[in-house]
Amino acid sequence: MPVENMIVTPWEVKGEIDYDKLIEQFGTEPITPELLEKIRRHTGELHLQLRRKIFFSHRDLDWILGRYEGGERFVLYTGRGPSGAVHIGHLLPWIFTRHLQEKFRTRLYFQMTDDEKFLIRPDLTLEKTEYYTKENSLDLIALGFQPGETLIMPDTRCARTFYNMALEIAKHVNFSTGRAVFGFEESSNIGIVFFPAIQAVPCFLESMLTGEKVPTLIPAAIDQDPYWRMTRDVAPRLGYPKPAQIHGKFLPSLGRKEKMSASLPETAIYTTDSPETAERKIMNAFTGGRATVEEQRRLGANPEICPIYFYEYFLFVEDDAQIGRIFQDCRSGKLLCGDHKRSLAESVSKFLVRHQELREKARDRLDEYLVDDQFLEMLRR
Ligand code: TRP
Repeated sequence: MPVENMIVTPWEVKGEIDYDKLIEQFGTEPITPELLEKIRRHTGELHLQLRRKIFFSHRDLDWILGRYEGGERFVLYTGRGPSGAVHIGHLLPWIFTRHLQEKFRTRLYFQMTDDEKFLIRPDLTLEKTEYYTKENSLDLIALGFQPGETLIMPDTRCARTFYNMALEIAKHVNFSTGRAVFGFEESSNIGIVFFPAIQAVPCFLESMLTGEKVPTLIPAAIDQDPYWRMTRDVAPRLGYPKPAQIHGKFLPSLGRKEKMSASLPETAIYTTDSPETAERKIMNAFTGGRATVEEQRRLGANPEICPIYFYEYFLFVEDDAQIGRIFQDCRSGKLLCGDHKRSLAESVSKFLVRHQELREKARDRLDEYLVDDQFLEMLRR
């Protein structure tokens, strides 16, 4: 596999992704069976995304769990760049985060980087990022995050609280490190050069507000890792614990090979798509199937490259025995792609109807989740 085609940065993910290679390149740790066992002791049955290695890599997760077992708490931190509609791929790490919040009964700091998206996307105004902040928050609330313990923080509304800490962080990161980690160029605007300090702030927020040293665990897709590498280097200089991470994979797109991308709307399913639209996208998807039914019956298909199979594996088929059978039936030629697509379309449609209902109900509850400087100041001890 030509790994040179793989690009994974916070602002670009392209090509066929080799996750083992990323562990090596980024210097993270694979999640071992021993670590899974340690997690299981606290969560009961392992979450689908752990059983199936969708969350596959980490930094210091063992350390956080060790402290937790010793009676010390931690907090969760994740986020979203509000640049457009949310698709199902975005939901994956949030669904997993929601699970962690429930099992470990922790606070979640959720950052909305409206500033970041404004800076890097020529087409976005601050009005639009504000609009998407609200719209995207509905998707989060619909997933059932704990009100009161889930703080959705748009950067432009929390700027006063974030700014001083961002200054402390920024002072310890020189331009050459920033360029190496984030790939800044001569043409990069000066806002985005400072921005990583803002994304680092929530890693220390609980400690900053409470005056205790509370570690933070970040569940997120692995493309965000450069931020955490930078933040972990700075942490000891500021006297804060290094943030720990658990890294997720990307949901592949319905097309060939790429991760699901908001820039190719026909190959991604948005949470706001009608069931009919979702079905059309699924029926038009690439598969691991053969050219003809006859050939497929005779030779079987390849689930290992098939988005239909991936969707079920990542999200829509919970039962391990069932996903195993689907794999075998693709392989053997017993299951044809048309039937497989219809069955996925049905699950997706059920999911969308329910999600959209909850999403609309969430409109009245935005205030319970969206916070600002004033709110954060009230948490200060
Ligand atoms: N930069 C992220 C994005 O573009 C948003 C984000 C901010 C984030 N803080 C985070 C994502 C923490 C994961 C974890 O989507």
